[in-house]
Amino acid sequence: MLLDFTTLDRRTAYFWMASTIAPRPVAWVSSQNAAGLVNLAPFSFFQMIAPQPPTLMICPQHNADGSLKHTAHNIRETGEFVVSLVSFPLVQQMNATSFAFGADANEFDAAGVVAAASHVVRPPRVAHAPVSFECRVSSFTLHPAESSTCAIILGEVIAAHVDEAIVGTDGTIDPHKLDLVSRMGADWYGRTRSTDNFTLARPTGWAQ
Ligand SMILES: Cc1cc2nc3c(=O)[nH]c(=O)nc-3n(C[C@H](O)[C@H](O)[C@H](O)COP(=O)(O)O)c2cc1C
Repeated sequence: MLLDFTTLDRRTAYFWMASTIAPRPVAWVSSQNAAGLVNLAPFSFFQMIAPQPPTLMICPQHNADGSLKHTAHNIRETGEFVVSLVSFPLVQQMNATSFAFGADANEFDAAGVVAAASHVVRPPRVAHAPVSFECRVSSFTLHPAESSTCAIILGEVIAAHVDEAIVGTDGTIDPHKLDLVSRMGADWYGRTRSTDNFTLARPTGWAQ
């Protein structure tokens, strides 16, 4: 089966890419607009970009009418956001915050998510998240430039909050304790807590 992506509409391209570029971690992004109104929404177009400077990326797609999602709007306005990671016990609340609330809604309140003050940036973090990254925007790009469909947002990580319960006695992070959820295609999710996890050492030489 060959898919000619030059002929696919947005919905079909999304289906094939989002169902197969998986599992994707979920960034639960809190932001604030200039007036101080708090917003919280999940985004799986999310990745680590570099450890130096420590940089991550989120890519909110535009709304169907071409407008920016509240998250992208707020981050462009204030230059700050927090990415909280989503452990399995938080998955229902995370999903609830994906609802298309109005601009005046605070999704922490709407979904009963407990907020905690951040250390450096103004937006609060998710109190019960295993890890939260406080970020300042290092790059905000509308893509493609001529007729944008999404925002590519790079954030420099300024500080992180880590629940010490996920750190093992040897200092490593146990994926079972971390218990993150990941997004796959359609309504499928995965978990870092899985009996199918395995370790694999990197090659140290090349034996012919
Ligand atoms: C697990 C999950 C992942 C999501 N990932 C994305 C994403 O990567 N990009 C996007 O534009 N919307 C994504 N959404 C949908 C947004 O969360 C949704 O549009 C939300 O209402 C945006 O809120 P905002 O307008 O307050 O920013 C995702 C939803 C869920 C449940």
